[in-house]
Amino acid sequence: MKIAVTGGAGFIGSHLTKRLITEGHDVTIIDNLDPYYSIARKKQHIKDIEMQVGTVPFIQLDLRHEEETRQLFMDQRFDIVYHLAALPGVSYSVEQPLPYVDYDINATINVLKAAGESEVNRVLFASSSSVYGNQNNGAFHEDMRIGEVESPYAAAKAGAESFCHAFHKLYGFKMTILRMFTVYGPWGRPDMAIPKFTRKLLSNEPIEIYSLDSARDYTYIDDCIKGLFKARATICHLEHRFR
Ligand SMILES: NC(=O)c1ccc[n+]([C@@H]2O[C@H](COP(=O)([O-])OP(=O)(O)OC[C@H]3O[C@@H](n4cnc5c(N)ncnc54)[C@H](O)[C@@H]3O)[C@@H](O)[C@H]2O)c1
Repeated sequence: MKIAVTGGAGFIGSHLTKRLITEGHDVTIIDNLDPYYSIARKKQHIKDIEMQVGTVPFIQLDLRHEEETRQLFMDQRFDIVYHLAALPGVSYSVEQPLPYVDYDINATINVLKAAGESEVNRVLFASSSSVYGNQNNGAFHEDMRIGEVESPYAAAKAGAESFCHAFHKLYGFKMTILRMFTVYGPWGRPDMAIPKFTRKLLSNEPIEIYSLDSARDYTYIDDCIKGLFKARATICHLEHRFR
C-alpha cells in the first residue's frame, strides 16, 4: 500500500512510520518541520526511522498551502493517508488561538480535498480526547456528545472532525477518526507533562501542578500505534454510522 503520513516527523507520526515500513508498506512522510518545538529534534526522528527500518521519502511541505498540497497528492496517488500534522498543545492554544484555525482546520480541509480529488481510498484523522470536553460520567465512548470543549485546540479538532464527515460524504473515501488520549513514551513531545516533569525532576526543580482536581488518561505510544495501524484495515464505528 502507498501510504502518506502527514506529520510523520513528529512524535506519533515517526513511530507510526516505523511500524508501517516494518509491515512492508511504501510510506512517504509529509511534514513542514514546524518550529512549535525543536526542528533538530524532528530531523532526529527521521534519522531514527532510517536507522531502525531504512530510508523513507520525506517531503517538506506546509499543508496550509492548498495548491501545493493538491499537486502533491495528484502526483503521488496515495492509497491511504494518515493525517497527523497539526499544531498541538492545549495551553499554547489558549495563548494563541488563531493559528489553530490555520493548522488544524484549514490544513485538514486541504488534505481532505486533495485526498478526494486524487482518489485516496481511506483517510485516518488524528483527533483528540479533548473533543469530549469535561464530562464526568465515567469512561468516554464514541457515542458521547462532542463539541462542548474547553480549549481552542479542542475546538479546532472538533471542527476538523466535522470537515472529515463532510468530505467523506462529498468524495466517498473511507474515513476513520481516532480520538487519542494523551500519548507518552520514547521521543514523547517535549511540551507535554511527562517529559516536562522528568526534566524538572532531573534538575531538582519543583513541578508545577495547575489543578489537583483534574484527571487524565494516558496511552503508551506502542498501544497508540497498534490502534492506528489496525484502523487502516478495519471497518470502524464511525464508518458504520456514516452509512
Ligand atoms: N501526543 C498526544 O498526546 C496527542 C493526543 C491526541 C491527539 N494528538 C494529535 O496527534 C497528532 C500528532 O501529535 P504529536 O504529539 O505527534 O505532535 P507533533 O507536534 O510531534 O507532530 C505533528 C507534526 O506535524 C507537523 N506539522 C504541523 N503543522 C504542519 C503543516 N501545516 N504542514 C505539514 N506538517 C505540519 C509538525 O512539524 C510535526 O512534525 C496531532 O494531530 C495531535 O493533535 C496527539
